[in-house]
Amino acid sequence: MFPVTRMRRLRMNPVLREILQETEVNLNDLIYPLFVDENIKEKKEISSMPGVYRYPLGDLPKISKDLESLGIKSVLLFGIPKCKDETASSAYEENGVIQKAIRTIKDESGILVIADLCMCEYTSHGHCGIVDNGIIVNDRTLEIYGKIALSYAKAGVDVVAPSGMMDGQVGAIRRALDSEGFEYIPIMAYSAKFASSFYSPFREAADSSPKFGDRKTYQMNYANAREAMREIDLDIKEGADIIMVKPSIFYLDIIRMARERFDLPIAAYNVSGEYSMVKFASMNGAIDEISAVKEILTSIKRAGADLIITYHALDYAKWNKKV
Ligand code: PBG
Repeated sequence: MFPVTRMRRLRMNPVLREILQETEVNLNDLIYPLFVDENIKEKKEISSMPGVYRYPLGDLPKISKDLESLGIKSVLLFGIPKCKDETASSAYEENGVIQKAIRTIKDESGILVIADLCMCEYTSHGHCGIVDNGIIVNDRTLEIYGKIALSYAKAGVDVVAPSGMMDGQVGAIRRALDSEGFEYIPIMAYSAKFASSFYSPFREAADSSPKFGDRKTYQMNYANAREAMREIDLDIKEGADIIMVKPSIFYLDIIRMARERFDLPIAAYNVSGEYSMVKFASMNGAIDEISAVKEILTSIKRAGADLIITYHALDYAKWNKKV
């Protein structure tokens, strides 16, 4: 008989288990995505994401105070504008939906406002860049990203988060911000963003589905890990302050690889489809929501993420209050 190594010795007592836990999820680490819709007067639930809403601008003072009192420190803003066109001009209007949302939340609360920076919610074709003859054109898109970044900065944003996956976007945005004195606004770059089927509930939420084709000429092939490291490396060289891996649950290996190679803070985006899976499975009694969410968020941290963007943040904060 082999001598038995008693690993279970440290698992017998619940307090011992608790004090020996290696990874802890802190509410400070969670970023709550917020959809702001210029076209509505009352909040509207997103049918593919139970418990997640589009909010009218008028609801933001109350929402931001509610989030703050629950202990949520930061939000990631997405806008649904009144008008869409070929060049996303409503994304950089002084009084566009996001610009108004930024001002309101900053006026009413101490919440850190991160704004997603992309064109797909603002273009009639639903792509994340300028379209010419069916091609998503890179460098002309960068000029627009620069304009969006500046308009967010002028509205008082705390952090910008470019998600369009155009080459050179981080550098272009850094230059645009610096050229007008916004050198202290950090860039949280969606660096390793994969073309994923888990974004579809978001596209309902943000009304941002591409009207033709898909996003595979700019978002990454989910089969590629080394390429993800190149994307992250480039974003860092261009001036990213925080790097991101997206989605999260099925990309823990990418988070871990990034953690081992880079010393910047890493954010992981626990995306809409990942949220919906848990929500619908628990609504149907297949799994227990609270323990599943805790397991998922802990796993993402264990893999090496510092920050987690998650639609579960609100529920998580409420569960935290109760205990
Ligand atoms: C915009 C953007 C998307 C998401 C975040 N920013 C959609 C997409 O790339 O199609 C997805 C977020 C989610 O699924 O929760 N480019």
